[in-house]
Amino acid sequence: METYNTLILDLDDRILTITLNRPQALNALNSEVLAELKAAFEYAYDSPEVGGVIITGSGEKAFAAGADIKEIAELNELNARKFAERGQELFATIEEFEKPVIAAVHGYALGGGCELAMACHIRVASAAARFGQPEVNLGLIPGYGGTQRLTRLIGKGRALELMMTADNIDANEAWRIGLVNHVADSQDEMMDQAVAIMRKILSKAPLAIGMVITSANAAESNKEDGYLVEANSFARCCGTQDFREGTAAFLEKRQPVFKGQ
Ligand code: CAA
Repeated sequence: METYNTLILDLDDRILTITLNRPQALNALNSEVLAELKAAFEYAYDSPEVGGVIITGSGEKAFAAGADIKEIAELNELNARKFAERGQELFATIEEFEKPVIAAVHGYALGGGCELAMACHIRVASAAARFGQPEVNLGLIPGYGGTQRLTRLIGKGRALELMMTADNIDANEAWRIGLVNHVADSQDEMMDQAVAIMRKILSKAPLAIGMVITSANAAESNKEDGYLVEANSFARCCGTQDFREGTAAFLEKRQPVFKGQ
């Protein structure tokens, strides 16, 4: 595993935990963080020892307080599109990643930080998490997919209110409106919950998990027919050894042993 300046990577029993590590800047996502996250996901993709990824933030104050405003302040109309597209591409890689990705959010998840959490497949928050898209305070709009993912996750009316008022909301409200899956009492319990969910997913057939992710993503695509993607994925599952093993284990009343084949 490479070493990184802005991330801490820890691989434990097939779970790769990626910790955003710029606590002095509330883990703001500068271009180095984005480049390193891209490299870390390439490593996670290539490495058979990695079954799934948990993303979290270092320190007690933030998951990530957004894109780095020092870098944003230098943007102009010519280079800002590239800036947004680069973040969008990385977050699409995370959303489409065929191994499970869970965001464990403690403290602020604002702007690009909220967008990163939304790109993950599942979100677990601590009670002290706060979510928001405060870009209009800077004369901006979300640029890493937030206008799209927030609208899909919580509905247009609520998303527009959050993005237009720049309000941030606490973890319980985020849970109530469907922005997070679970709220834990503390940062430690949040990590325990994220690991427990990941362990449960990793006990299932890995190829089927990847196809669940791909098929669910197709539900939001305007380029492909989600039902067709689902039917094709279902057929591909039936060609795997894990499908033979899963059905045989059920019929033989034993636990399946999946190999990802
Ligand atoms: N970029 C760069 N630095 C940041 C940052 C950011 N997004 N957020 C916080 N920091 C830095 C602060 O500048 C400060 O640094 P110094 O100690 O060197 O001054 C340090 O982190 C601690 O922050 P505060 O002193 O502000 O901490 P606080 O507890 O008083 O406030 C906060 C916390 C409410 C989160 C506040 O820091 C804040 O509002 N941050 C900005 C949030 C924001 O606007 N995010 C959206 C960014 S734009 C974006 O993300 C666009 C996109 O979609 C791609």
